[in-house]
Amino acid sequence: MTALVTGAAGFIGSTLARALTSSGFTVRGVDNFDAYYDPVLKEQNAATLIGPNFTLVRADLSRDSLEELLEGVEVIYHLAGRPGVRGSWGSDFDYYTAANITATQRLLEQATKSASPPRIVYASSSSVYGDAESYPTPESAMPKPRSPYGVTKLAGEHLCALYAANFGMATVALRFFTVYGPGQRPDMAFTRFLRAAVTGDTVPLYGTGKQLRDFTYVGDVVRAVIAAGEADLAPGTVLNVSGGGSHSVNEVLEVVGRLVGQSVEVDRKPRADGDVMRTGADTRSISTLLGWRPQTSLEEGLSMQLGWVRESLAKGSLET
Ligand code: NAD
Ligand code: UGA
Repeated sequence: MTALVTGAAGFIGSTLARALTSSGFTVRGVDNFDAYYDPVLKEQNAATLIGPNFTLVRADLSRDSLEELLEGVEVIYHLAGRPGVRGSWGSDFDYYTAANITATQRLLEQATKSASPPRIVYASSSSVYGDAESYPTPESAMPKPRSPYGVTKLAGEHLCALYAANFGMATVALRFFTVYGPGQRPDMAFTRFLRAAVTGDTVPLYGTGKQLRDFTYVGDVVRAVIAAGEADLAPGTVLNVSGGGSHSVNEVLEVVGRLVGQSVEVDRKPRADGDVMRTGADTRSISTLLGWRPQTSLEEGLSMQLGWVRESLAKGSLET
């Protein structure tokens, strides 16, 4: 089976590509190593992927030719994108439209030209819901993003749905809920909190800390992504992928303090624009259609991420 992983040098993409290569897939990874966060971290991720059944292509999906990239590909895991809720305001929005909308449209367009069009698994986001109309939130809830980022992820989802409706493309959009674990991006809460607890640095705490997230362990996300690429789902299917319970940011700070044996010094900041108060998924659809359930508790997952943070700090990567 030949798979294309877009965003293969990123947090989730590199974790997925490692899992696919070790389970016998031939993997082509593509990434443009953009500067949303230090590209050195992406080079380190890519370096873990070198092997006989992995090839890396350095290309920008929003601009470069995609013809050769898709040759012979049976399934596309589309994880490339500009992430981050809080940074999507102002003039940076151009990066979000290029990486999340234009890149997705170009990939879908090229896929329609294949003699045997590949399945496409699209990395969508809980950010499409905004402050959701009900909790736990089912996929049928009316999406109402609260950040420019969420708007672009929803546009990507709509593109997948319309290529499914018009051309029968086998697309599936997975709405990931705040993903964490080893390799997590340096702008995200858990990496920042764990690093600060170990080094004694101070981290910003946005808002009251009472905001709730349905945090999801990256290994569980990768299992869902692989299962979605293998299943015969109706074209245009949308599924939530979440950790199975919401926790507050204050609760996370407490667990981090306990695991590290030292509490996190926080610098209280106003609630960030675009940050929702609560996410929480209804996962009955994915459990019925893919037999998927999250398996990793918050404490287990945080403890694995702490091991990775300590190792990275010892090697001199993950500097503040
Ligand atoms: P990440 O930034 O670590 O990975 C994304 C990768 O895509 C990066 O390596 C980046 O260089 C690459 N990329 C960006 N634009 C590109 C382009 N035009 N061409 C080629 N490569 C490009 O982010 P992540 O946290 O691993 O997120 C992966 C995907 O999952 C994103 O689409 C994100 O929106 C989505 N997502 C993430 C989370 C989360 O909690 N991390 C939650 C919901 C959805
Ligand atoms: C995350 C990802 O960054 C998005 O790419 C993704 O699409 C989104 O999840 C999703 O689920 O859709 P977010 O929930 O903001 O977004 O994840 P974190 O950056 O880990 O933040 C979690 C909470 O901690 C937020 O309320 C945030 O304000 C808070 N936080 C974060 C802090 O208080 N301090 C920090 O230094 C970082």
